[in-house]
Amino acid sequence: MKIAIVGATGAVGKELLSVLERRDFPVSELRLYASARSAGRSMVFRGEEVAVEALPEAPLPVDVVLASAGSSISKQYAPIWATQSVVIDNSSAFRYEPDVPLIVPEINPHAIRGHKNIIANPNCTTAILLMALHPLHKAFKARRVIVSTYQSASGAGASGMEELLQGTKEFLAGRAVEHKTFAHPLPFNVIPQIDAFQENGYTKEEMKVLWETQKIMEDSQIRVSCTAVRVPTLRVHSEAVTVEFEKPVSPEAARAVLSAAPGVDLVDDPAAKRYPMPLSATGKFNVEVGRIRKSLAFDNGLDFFVAGDQLLKGAALNAVQIAELLQKPVAI
Ligand code: A2P
Repeated sequence: MKIAIVGATGAVGKELLSVLERRDFPVSELRLYASARSAGRSMVFRGEEVAVEALPEAPLPVDVVLASAGSSISKQYAPIWATQSVVIDNSSAFRYEPDVPLIVPEINPHAIRGHKNIIANPNCTTAILLMALHPLHKAFKARRVIVSTYQSASGAGASGMEELLQGTKEFLAGRAVEHKTFAHPLPFNVIPQIDAFQENGYTKEEMKVLWETQKIMEDSQIRVSCTAVRVPTLRVHSEAVTVEFEKPVSPEAARAVLSAAPGVDLVDDPAAKRYPMPLSATGKFNVEVGRIRKSLAFDNGLDFFVAGDQLLKGAALNAVQIAELLQKPVAI
């Protein structure tokens, strides 16, 4: 396949290059696009330098566009790219359009049928949550979900990582910490705001978890309440999750379901201090799930903790998996 990465120099763009390599994706030609600032740079793919081009205002000469340059670029250009290519869009620009499939390949690969050349990649927090929630939902029918997130700086892109690293140095040197990407200084802090506040008091990030869970799991009845918090880690989003199920459930039964779930690593041995963490989940394709226990708040309830590399399963890996689905429609 001829592939274009739009936003190649960004936090997700770099991961897209590496995931295409790691999964040995059949790339016959790779085009890399970013802003005019990056034109002339080059990036290495499979040992060869590939030039970064300024994004033209025209269709791209490829089969698949992996777009990761933000919502406004996608809104403006995806309809143009879609005239000649299939667009797998990492932004939220098209996720809620009824005729745009929103896909996690382990969960709803069938939704790719009938796509109209734009396919949406989910919000990173939602994708990581659903890797654990969906298999449990299938087995025990989830009704209500309460999620608190611990989201890393890279969720805000390369500038978020840079701001955390630089700010940490400033803090340790006793200097004032500058901040631009985040609403407040992130080093040695946690910030209970990701994206803009909505009329109901939730942020857009928090609402995405509800909207996208319902769309991907194809269940408009499931209720999800989320508090999304930025923490001073570089990669990986972690989430504390409480679920109330319709059917009786036990931690042992949940462990059996999750240990058979694709894309999930059960890391649940508290006595040995083994549980999901950003440092162990960094760079991993699979999402870690652990701390599984019976909820003290709900009958038929479970509490658990997940940690997933959101630049991978929450973004680049999921996008490449969608591209893989395009190659094998017969199997869906
Ligand atoms: P550039 O590096 O040239 O600014 P991140 O999510 O890490 O912030 O990355 C955003 C990505 O989107 C980068 O690759 C960035 O390129 C790219 N980008 C930003 N603005 C534009 C634009 N106007 N046209 C094309 N690419 C853009």
